[in-house]
Amino acid sequence: MAEVILENLYKSFPPSNPRSITPANLTFETSTSNQKNPTHSQAKSTHINVLKGINLTVKEREFMVLVGPSGCGKSTILRLIAGLEEVTGGKIWLGDRLINDLPPKARDMAMVFQNYALYPHLSVYDNIAFGLRRTNQNPAKKLLVAWKERLLLGLTQNLPRGWRYLSSSEKIIEKTVSEVAQLLQIETLLHRFPRQLSGGQKQRVALGRAIARNPQVFLMDEPLSNLDAKLRTETRAQIVQLQRQLGITTIYVTHDQTEAMTMGDRIAVMNQGEIQQIATPLEIYNQPANKFVAEFIGSPPMNFIPVVVNTPLLITHPLFRVTLSEKWGKALKNYNQQSVLLGIRPEHFQLSPAATKNIPVNVYLVEELGNDTYISVHLEGDVNTNLQVRISPDYTIKAGDNLWLSMDLEKVHLFDRYTLKNIIQLPDQTDYQQP
Ligand SMILES: Nc1ncnc2c1ncn2[C@@H]1O[C@H](COP(=O)(O)OP(=O)(O)OP(=O)(O)O)[C@@H](O)[C@H]1O
Ligand SMILES: [Mg+2]
Repeated sequence: MAEVILENLYKSFPPSNPRSITPANLTFETSTSNQKNPTHSQAKSTHINVLKGINLTVKEREFMVLVGPSGCGKSTILRLIAGLEEVTGGKIWLGDRLINDLPPKARDMAMVFQNYALYPHLSVYDNIAFGLRRTNQNPAKKLLVAWKERLLLGLTQNLPRGWRYLSSSEKIIEKTVSEVAQLLQIETLLHRFPRQLSGGQKQRVALGRAIARNPQVFLMDEPLSNLDAKLRTETRAQIVQLQRQLGITTIYVTHDQTEAMTMGDRIAVMNQGEIQQIATPLEIYNQPANKFVAEFIGSPPMNFIPVVVNTPLLITHPLFRVTLSEKWGKALKNYNQQSVLLGIRPEHFQLSPAATKNIPVNVYLVEELGNDTYISVHLEGDVNTNLQVRISPDYTIKAGDNLWLSMDLEKVHLFDRYTLKNIIQLPDQTDYQQP
């Protein structure tokens, strides 16, 4: 069973440059995280904590996307799962097998690296075939190859590829390589060497090598980052389609939120070595667990305006006041007279007439994209609060205009000013069950 479970995973690195340590990523022997996780005390007090208690279950056949800003620990998680780094604390399960101490080769996982690590001395064909030949290296089988086959192989091995004798296993390999090459549109590159390829072509070869191996788990680290926009969109769709067909459990790392939204069955949003939320793309978009997720997923990002709660349902700001629906009653009970952050996405504003429930704004930038227009505005009299608003391209708006915006109140979010958590939380999203 190819379910991957990360249980309270920690990773620390010794500081190579002590000046790069910041208080936020230091491990202290007395910290609460240590108390929760005794194994973590292995990390020395000055080590940099890169992963801080990761719990994640990637179900069998699932496409899980890990997304987060640069340096948040995404590649480190993949490298731990692949066995390329040792864990500092916690457990990694493949199905019901604990694999912490299993060498990478024994894990039956194929990883596509961020920097595509191809074998420079092998052609594209042999790079893709490499993993297949390795898995076919069964000594008992080798002995069974008939002497005729060996002779023919020997006699023809220096001839061009089409003329060479192929053993039955090589024929299967050739079929697989050609199918994979066709899929990734690299058939014409099979005879070339990595130094003769562009970055994007190398990336597709690396992807092909992983696909050809038909492993239990795919680990993909930003495999599309070097492709141009069109090829990227095409390859994105191909990877998803292929993963569905093959049903191979996949963990896919990206910092591109469009990739995350379009590819993942579920998304795990990370920040600073911690998972912020694990949910389906639409749950993440519609019900972000905290301000970080709300801002990271969605482009342009969600807007935030500080407001005051007046229970039961009135939300006030010096420039406007709105009444929320009954569904907020329970959540707002604890926030009477308190300041909270109102979050609203650019597409949930509308140009509207003047009214106390609407927001007066001044336009300072208009971006016309053809299908949509984005306007950047300040709250009236408050140049420090910027909002981004999506409007229909049919409106003619210019910088300097004064407008009124209404909010779709079914789509607003409220975040606690101190914890930055969404005041309405989804049911418990703890994503780990003891195997
Ligand atoms: N071998 C190492 N020694 C010390 N620190 C490391 C090591 N490898 C990674 N780090 C640090 O761990 C943190 C997480 O790195 P990681 O490569 O996992 O980030 P990432 O989320 O993949 O970022 P990116 O999107 O830029 O690829 C970074 O701050 C990085 O500098
Ligand atoms: Mg990375």
